[in-house]
Amino acid sequence: MKTIIVEADKGILSESDLNTATNIIKSGGLVAFPTETVYGLGADALNPEASKKIYKAKGRPSDNPLIVHIADSGNMEQIAREIPDKAFRLAEVFWPGPLTIILNKKDIVPFSTTGGLNTVAIRLPASGIAKDLISRSGGYIAAPSANISGKPSPTRAEHVIADLSGKVDMIIDGGKSTLGLESTIIDLSSDEPIILRPGCITKAMLENIIGNAPYDKAILGKIIEKDIKPKAPGMKYSHYAPEGCLTIYEGNIESVILAINKKAKEITEKGKTVGIIATEETKGLYRYGNIKSIGRRGDEDSIAAGLYAVLRDFDDIHAEYIFSESFARGDLGQAIMNRLLKAAGYRVEKIL
Ligand code: TXA
Ligand code: MG
Repeated sequence: MKTIIVEADKGILSESDLNTATNIIKSGGLVAFPTETVYGLGADALNPEASKKIYKAKGRPSDNPLIVHIADSGNMEQIAREIPDKAFRLAEVFWPGPLTIILNKKDIVPFSTTGGLNTVAIRLPASGIAKDLISRSGGYIAAPSANISGKPSPTRAEHVIADLSGKVDMIIDGGKSTLGLESTIIDLSSDEPIILRPGCITKAMLENIIGNAPYDKAILGKIIEKDIKPKAPGMKYSHYAPEGCLTIYEGNIESVILAINKKAKEITEKGKTVGIIATEETKGLYRYGNIKSIGRRGDEDSIAAGLYAVLRDFDDIHAEYIFSESFARGDLGQAIMNRLLKAAGYRVEKIL
């Protein structure tokens, strides 16, 4: 398949490119588009054949449900039933934005979109291109992250092109994703709210609006060992895994830098390609390997925005071993460490 690739100029897509994208979605095709979190791979959410194509293009297991993106919060009521007041309150405060709400689905949403579940995940993204595309193509676009399953989510069009060129009808280049981590997911389909995936809308922000909202137990630890099944099917797969063996070093930052330097020296001397995930503040303190900064320690937003691109950069140079600093787990740090730990297969070296 020939993939049409178009570029938005300063966040604005030309009328003719928007028309092309809309026609593709309406006729059951696939369009990758930018959002403020990560790029999404979109198809008509109400067309069972269209959403099946998403699974095929990504190589995604068919029991892993898709998020339905809307452009108008009123559309939530067209696809969900028994909507609790808490859902309306969260939508009011955090939409458009990086929050996905899970509700019981109406029959209009096909099981091929929800991975066979009776619930539907709904998000209203902030990106203007996404909103235009959704509202013009019928109002409901199913979109997982636009990567091959198992790769880090794409935060730049180059990432999407590398993974999906030739497999989708169109890719819209809208520049770098501003947030860089996938949306927070909260399940409101039963009595007790549960956070299924941490993201830029933090637990504290959610609890400020609706009261108690615990994390799904399975996302806090090493799920393979504990026999706890995550409620978001996607969280059980080893997502975000780089090609190389990634180890996170935890401890006070001076000791971590010393330990990584020692290990990097040892592995480099064996002739292996080493990558080091550092920050603006620390990158000058490493002596071996390929050192990449993911952002500023003093600015968690910059770390969230830089993480996936650095993981992909290390794939590009075929780093065999990657050593990473770790980050505080408060607020946004919870989401950052959730992704980093998964990428590392929970390999952590604790430095005293
Ligand atoms: O920021 C985002 O959410 C991005 C952009 C494109 O919007 N999308 C995204 O989609 O990250 P995806 O498919 O990569 O992740 C969706 C997650 C998966 O872990 C999936 O299992 C979970 O949401 N999910 C979707 N529907 C669900 C449902 N009905 N019940 C439980 N989990 C659900
Ligand atoms: Mg994904």
